Amino acid sequence: MKRYLRRVRMVEPVVSAAERELFGGPLRYDMGWAEHERAPLDLTMLSAIRSMPRLVGGTLRRAWTADRPALLAVAAGEVGQGIAAAVGLLAVNAVMHALLGTGAAADRLHDALPALVAGALVAVVNAGLAGLSTSRAGRLEPLVERIATTEYLEAATAVELEAIEDPEFRRLIDVAQYGAASARRMIGACVAALNGTISLLATASILTVLHPALLPMLLLIAAPRGWGAMRVAQERYVSVMNWIEHVRASRLIGHLLTERDAAQEVRIHGVGAFLLGKYRAMAESAEGEQKRLADGKALTELVAAALSGLAMAGTYGVMLWLILSGHMGLAVAGTAVIAVRAGSASLGALVMNVNQLHEESLYVQDHDRFLAEAARRAIPAGGRPLPERVDRVVLDQVTYRYPDRDEAALDGVSVELPMGSVTAVVGENGSGKSTLMKVLAGLLLPQSGTVRWGGADLAGLDRSQVFDRVSLLTQDFQRWPVTAALNIRIGRPAREAGPTELRPSVEYAGAAPVVAKLPHGLRSLLARMFRGASELSGGEWQKIGLARTHWRTETCAADSVLIVDEPTSALDPEAEIAAFDAIRRLAGPHRAVVLVTHRMSGVRHADTIYVLAGGRLAEHGSHDTLMAARGRYAAMFETQAAQYAAGPRAGVPHPSAPPVPEPS
Ligand SMILES: Nc1ncnc2c1ncn2[C@@H]1O[C@H](COP(=O)(O)OP(=O)(O)OP(=O)(O)O)[C@@H](O)[C@H]1O
Ligand SMILES: [Mg+2]
Repeated sequence: MKRYLRRVRMVEPVVSAAERELFGGPLRYDMGWAEHERAPLDLTMLSAIRSMPRLVGGTLRRAWTADRPALLAVAAGEVGQGIAAAVGLLAVNAVMHALLGTGAAADRLHDALPALVAGALVAVVNAGLAGLSTSRAGRLEPLVERIATTEYLEAATAVELEAIEDPEFRRLIDVAQYGAASARRMIGACVAALNGTISLLATASILTVLHPALLPMLLLIAAPRGWGAMRVAQERYVSVMNWIEHVRASRLIGHLLTERDAAQEVRIHGVGAFLLGKYRAMAESAEGEQKRLADGKALTELVAAALSGLAMAGTYGVMLWLILSGHMGLAVAGTAVIAVRAGSASLGALVMNVNQLHEESLYVQDHDRFLAEAARRAIPAGGRPLPERVDRVVLDQVTYRYPDRDEAALDGVSVELPMGSVTAVVGENGSGKSTLMKVLAGLLLPQSGTVRWGGADLAGLDRSQVFDRVSLLTQDFQRWPVTAALNIRIGRPAREAGPTELRPSVEYAGAAPVVAKLPHGLRSLLARMFRGASELSGGEWQKIGLARTHWRTETCAADSVLIVDEPTSALDPEAEIAAFDAIRRLAGPHRAVVLVTHRMSGVRHADTIYVLAGGRLAEHGSHDTLMAARGRYAAMFETQAAQYAAGPRAGVPHPSAPPVPEPS
């Protein structure tokens, strides 16, 4: 019994031996939805009731925007049901009076008839109102979910890239994704809570009218049930939060066992049987928790029912005394018995609904928090227009540091990109090349220094116009799960184009043989997760990416910048040479091409080569100047050249062979 006097507390999660071995402890994702996990358990009835107006207010506001008549119909339906419940009880009271009156049985039945008919009518009206409310609430639910989802997606696509790369914001995006479904469920929970409240009020007022002593009695009977429902909900919540660790861990293992990328090692290294054993061990500890929870729930409900029963016995005792001492009529007592039963059931349901409302609202609050933060970090709309001709794009003393890093990824870097030129950027891994490209593209705004399009500072320009002038082809360009044609056209999706319009881009990228191999040519779906879709190799995809870039550049007549970041990593040597040639051919009088690559053979023909080292500009100039300077560039170039020139074994360690015994 002692356990019932304590508050339900969060306990440290049970970690199975399997989890310890695999993950070194409980698996805690750095993911948003785990955020409520360790929040103090705030599920007391009082705190739930206190936050109710705000929560319900938010849901009502969404529903009001979604479909006003439907919301009004739901409200009318619910209030109507409350009134019907009260009238129903009055009818019951009248029937009781008639039945328990004096006179012959037939006369009493006759007297009761009008009230019985009225009660039946009220029941019919009640059913009709319930139907109306259900149908309108059902209409509101998807609308509210759509509104919330659209808000979420719109906000997520409108923020600066820096926000997307900020782990804090990513976490928020992650939590907020559950908000829309919760907003939908809140409609149902709100309606149910409203229904519970109104019918409880109706019952309570009728009871007060019948006899003032009945209301406290109702509360006495209902209180243990309310407490039981609350306690079960709290225990479930705590358990879910602890159990989440196991669920996640076993889900991860299930995913690994079926995942395509892991398939080879699962088989060759025998990882399958090993992980399956761990999965079993973890499932067993999770099942133990479920059993504990079910037992606890059964016990709590039993205690609540016993307490409620005691209160009920007490109430009936008091009623008996009231009747015997002439303070209460028999008919009133009969009605009161029915009302008390109905009232305690509504109170139990109300507690559950308020609880659910509270749980869902945690997620809806995250949704609202995300929208507010996303609005703060959105790419500003509007700005000065970008002139059609800009002559050159200049990065002047640009410094950029990622939000979660101490060191700057770019430190006072200046680069000049005249239209009609080809510029190359080289440097070791992590030297800041890709970051420089993101700054150039207008995706990241430098913390100091400026990016200028002609004379205009990027900071004041209409960013959508800047994006319109940039083409970007990166190593990990998006492989959209759509048709081959759309995978090319999506370079400028607003522009309609059929196979004829796309043909030059396909030819240009050398993708014609790739398309010819596809079962339905350009109309083939490129998405391995869908039936009937085709799969391309890494190099074949890169040709599609190049075609997309061509389509994008060819559909922009104004001065523009083409950024190519490591485009050839998956290409065979011949295709690589062809790709570098193709990229150079994209240079035009109104286009500046920037090429980032580790293949030094691809950069020697560039007009200017910039060499980055540790986020700073080490040197720049043409291939010949840089070779003559004998600096970092010359060293990098010669190292790569030497690999091809040297003999097959130069500098490569070979395995030591076990001594082979001389044949005797
Ligand atoms: N999204 C990010 N968040 C935090 N730090 C980042 C992010 N992207 C890159 N960095 C860091 O910034 C530095 C420069 O990275 P960048 O990707 O620009 O290098 P890179 O020259 O393109 O390298 P690579 O040749 O490997 O592509 C690195 O130290 C990297 O760890
Ligand atoms: Mg890079």
